[in-house]
Amino acid sequence: MNNEKIDQLLDWIDNLDDKTEAEVEEIRVKLLGKKGEITQLFDEFRTILPEQKREFGQKLNVLKKAAQEKIDQLREAAASIIAPEKSSIDTSMPGENLDLGSRHPISLTREEIINIFKKFGYCVAEGPEIEDDWHVFGALNFPPEHPARDMQDTFFISTDDNRVLLRTHTSSVQVRTMEKQQPPIRVICPGRVFRNEAISARAHCIFHQIEGLYIDENVSFADLKQAILLFAKEMFGESTQIRLRPSYFPFTEPSAEVDVSCNICKGKGCNICKGTGWLEIMGCGMVDPNVLEASGIDSKKYSGFAFGMGVERIAMLKWQVKDLRLYFENDVRFLKEFETL
Ligand code: DAH
Repeated sequence: MNNEKIDQLLDWIDNLDDKTEAEVEEIRVKLLGKKGEITQLFDEFRTILPEQKREFGQKLNVLKKAAQEKIDQLREAAASIIAPEKSSIDTSMPGENLDLGSRHPISLTREEIINIFKKFGYCVAEGPEIEDDWHVFGALNFPPEHPARDMQDTFFISTDDNRVLLRTHTSSVQVRTMEKQQPPIRVICPGRVFRNEAISARAHCIFHQIEGLYIDENVSFADLKQAILLFAKEMFGESTQIRLRPSYFPFTEPSAEVDVSCNICKGKGCNICKGTGWLEIMGCGMVDPNVLEASGIDSKKYSGFAFGMGVERIAMLKWQVKDLRLYFENDVRFLKEFETL
């Protein structure tokens, strides 16, 4: 009988480490199965000389016990590991794509406008969306019977003596700035505004405006024109031209509406500019002395200009978006168009 074989097997059993349940079963068959190595040794044992039986009998019993114990131990360890199902993991599969969020086109446009004016030395000023009559209308020289003060145009929160309303324009922030600060003043005021309008491709009850205000000694209409021309070139391209048309606002005198040359047809006339070659982008004017005085600024010493533009409108012109509602619906197919900007 082969002593060496028994020692080899003992050694091999001793060195076995963690196995899966299936592997443990293979080991059991290899050692103790019908044709297993230990089973065969026991068969051999029957044929050996009686004087050798004692020695080998003991050895074989030790070996069998060691094998049985090791198998039990490995089986227990394998059961305690919840083995992942092999078929459920395909390590060659590409990873899942995590979509990154992107900035909304209105935010992008607002930031771009703000950055242009920051370069010209303007600061950002903000004010409340819920306002009173004085800051939205009274201080801005709106006469008491002005139609903007009508329920048809303005959302009122309370209509008693101290009327509370949602601001209809960011010009209210001009007033708040002048109340707090003496000239020189150079601010731009971005924010949301609200109007009682039916929602359509061209109008919405919520939109965004950016107001500008510049007050100092000897500010003239030429300064206003220059500021707007520089802005238009930065925003729409170096070759952009501007045109001012006389207009009316209660808070500026004189007042004007600003057009930029159509950057799509380069002024030749197309369906975006309705064949005129020009696109309207903002209102502006010299701040009415009444407005300066209403907020405690000496209109004999100081003069200034103001302007106001709709962010949606600028964004529509820049990206040729034809329906305002797209900005509010947040359809990801639309938003994805601006992903790389
Ligand atoms: N507040 C005006 C509006 O909502 C826009 C505007 C026009 C602002 C002329 C101004 C300005 O400061 O001078 O339509």
